[in-house]
Amino acid sequence: MRHLMSPLDFSVEELDKLMDIAEDIEKNRDKYSHICDGKILATCFYEPSTRTRLSFESAMLHLGGQVLGFASADSSSAAKGESVSDTIRVISCFADICAMRHPKEGAPMVAASKSSIPVINAGDGGHQHPTQTLTDLMTIRSLKGSIKNMTIGLCGDLKFGRTVHSLINALKRYEGINFVFISPEELRIPDYIRSDVLDKNNIPYKEVIKLEDVMPELDILYMTRVQRERFFNEEDYVRLKDFYILTKEKMELAKKDMMVLHPLPRVNEISVEVDDDPRAVYFKQVQYGMYIRMALILTLLELV
Ligand code: CP
Repeated sequence: MRHLMSPLDFSVEELDKLMDIAEDIEKNRDKYSHICDGKILATCFYEPSTRTRLSFESAMLHLGGQVLGFASADSSSAAKGESVSDTIRVISCFADICAMRHPKEGAPMVAASKSSIPVINAGDGGHQHPTQTLTDLMTIRSLKGSIKNMTIGLCGDLKFGRTVHSLINALKRYEGINFVFISPEELRIPDYIRSDVLDKNNIPYKEVIKLEDVMPELDILYMTRVQRERFFNEEDYVRLKDFYILTKEKMELAKKDMMVLHPLPRVNEISVEVDDDPRAVYFKQVQYGMYIRMALILTLLELV
């Protein structure tokens, strides 16, 4: 039995296969519409979500399966003090596979160690968000044709943004990837990513503060929101939340085929006027997220 805790749990070849399945699902929806008949997905979300939870649920429903779960810790027995270990033992009696989001780093890993069904990390604190990374990789591969030889700018909250940490980890294995990290001083990528992921693997990168200075060199701009829920101090959040706002004027500095991705939700960091730019692909990205989660469910349930 396999779980998914980090994008590194799959080799590059396995990720390619997963994306091939997702592409086939996109083209041949009917072929997959009963493949999970009789199977149940549990979504155990101890932290708010729109996309991840609902795309998992939509994915399972499109595969012919059914879903159950909870959308907040308050509406589960976690509110009475039940541990994640006990909860997953209970969920294992009710479902065939579980997607779990938790504010504490490592909680889905603890669940996986006690589970008799596959567990998918749907985001753990500021640590990892592997299914968002699968979504991001699929978006890049589908729209750019491959995942290599490109300059990728990651902009915003690079300290607390788990989607950023997962994506850097995944992209380090692809050829010719060059990173540009764009953040205020206080929200730079964590030291462990710089030393253990980038320096150790000789991945080229630079860190800058001003987005405009690097716009012309980017093939992909990955915008992120400032993660209010991970700040200790509201004043710091208020000071930093509008540090970057991507506007039409800034988009004029970019390559004609640059793509803007965002894991969403968006707050202020991309002006809505940018949504009409064909290079803004963050809503297409959401659609790819459902297909890749369908492929992941099928793979972990060993149905493909
Ligand atoms: N991208 C993402 O994780 O969105 P949600 O928080 O809405 O699930």
